[in-house]
Amino acid sequence: MDFLKLVLFLYMIRDATSFCGSDPSGIKVTTKSAKSIHVAWDTTKTNCGYTITGYKVYFNSLSPVKNYKYKDVSGASTNNVEISPFVAGFSYNIFVKAVTAIGIVSNPTSINYTHPHARPSYAPSNIHASVQEETSLTICWDALNVFTKNGDIKGYKIYYRGPGLTGTNSANILGEANRQYTITGLKPNSTYQFIVQVINDVGPGPYSAFIPIHTMPPLHVMQKI
Ligand SMILES: *[C@@H]1O[C@H](CO)[C@@H](O)[C@H](O)[C@H]1NC(C)=O
Ligand SMILES: *[C@@H]1O[C@H](CO)[C@@H](O)[C@H](O)[C@H]1NC(C)=O
Repeated sequence: MDFLKLVLFLYMIRDATSFCGSDPSGIKVTTKSAKSIHVAWDTTKTNCGYTITGYKVYFNSLSPVKNYKYKDVSGASTNNVEISPFVAGFSYNIFVKAVTAIGIVSNPTSINYTHPHARPSYAPSNIHASVQEETSLTICWDALNVFTKNGDIKGYKIYYRGPGLTGTNSANILGEANRQYTITGLKPNSTYQFIVQVINDVGPGPYSAFIPIHTMPPLHVMQKI
């Protein structure tokens, strides 16, 4: 009876510590490029009787989008790998599990990593007029999505030029949700050119193309009828 208990006890101990030192520890993460990271870990702690065939390197995105992924790495002595794609501003939980003949060794230490913010990848899309009048235009545009804004959106910058204006004018619009701007004092029945740019905590993104938008012709022509 006592012998059976001892065998059970030893079996439980062995199962809980099947990877001596509990996990591939010493995980280090460094930013490699705008879209990739480098992960290194310590392979010097030997496992307890099970041959390591490789590692699974987990890089779970936690925020703002949940997305669970891992990369397989082969070879017991492999102790680093480059992983992509990573998204600027996303937070990840990264850990390494050893793959052995009996399966994947659990309970690793993990580290949280946020990929560095970068300038917005794109200009706003769908730039158009929501209101067109004789002497004013209200311009609006779409927000960038979480995969392209690359950081915290501070606002937008709008550039415009056309008849009656001296050179290129600009305006700053604060706040991610403020996606429209009204310009007054324009000439009727005239084409104005607009550029919109997204600004985040790192800096401005690329300029949009020039978008031509026309003011309305004078209404008094029709009012006389
Ligand atoms: C990592 O981030 C998650 C979610 O924010 C948090 O619950 C966890 O405690 C963090 N882990 C470490 C090791 O900081
Ligand atoms: C608007 O402009 C166009 C081209 O410049 C011109 O042909 C047209 O007569 C104008 N319409 C009005 C109502 O002024």
